[in-house]
Amino acid sequence: MRLDQYLATSTELSRKDAKKAITKGRVRVDGSPVRSANLQVTDKAVVELDGSELHLPGEIYLMMNKPDGVISATTDSSQPTAVDLLPSQLASKVHIAGRLDKDTTGLLLLTSDGQWSHQVTSPRRDCPKTYQVQLSEPLSSEARGKLETGVLLKDEDKPTLPASVVTCSETTIELTISEGRYHQVKRMLAAVGNHVVGLHRLRIGEITLDPALAPGQYRELTGDEIRSIFGSA
Ligand code: URA
Repeated sequence: MRLDQYLATSTELSRKDAKKAITKGRVRVDGSPVRSANLQVTDKAVVELDGSELHLPGEIYLMMNKPDGVISATTDSSQPTAVDLLPSQLASKVHIAGRLDKDTTGLLLLTSDGQWSHQVTSPRRDCPKTYQVQLSEPLSSEARGKLETGVLLKDEDKPTLPASVVTCSETTIELTISEGRYHQVKRMLAAVGNHVVGLHRLRIGEITLDPALAPGQYRELTGDEIRSIFGSA
């Protein structure tokens, strides 16, 4: 696609104003200023106008700070869902990439792109997820060692993959796991004799929950955040 057409498609600018913006040097392609409106732009090019990255309309990629008490589902007649928190024109197009329990808060990814969400959730991709975990008891060094090597969850016969544990306070840890088994974090802590009293997802791969988002708020992912999922295997 020509650069002026790319601009006219991804912004409110008319084709004529897009050409003007290009000739004035307001547009960069892959980091370099470009003044030629007929430059051919590939799908992978990073196009910026006045320093802000542009995207062609199409797929939707969002992060939300999921509040406590909403379920990770698109619609449910009886309970509020994370998707209900979006305006209807977005809500009808997205699904959740990696669910959280009703009482878990923090980073939730929502997208219209099925291939992309598959990269987030597929067990074969091992995309790491980091949780801040509030515990009922301080974590013993023996329990920590077990989490780091792998624990056998109730009613399962295969131990969890090694997890990484960072101690934040006596009863708060950051736990990074690369699987997505049912209630995995709560069951891992139960398996080592502890109990989760608060769970908050901080990170998925290289995507970190934006601290500017209050519970229930969302924003679009940046181009780098979207692309990071394909690079995180
Ligand atoms: N592990 C859990 O136990 N619950 C979540 O919501 C996410 C991971």
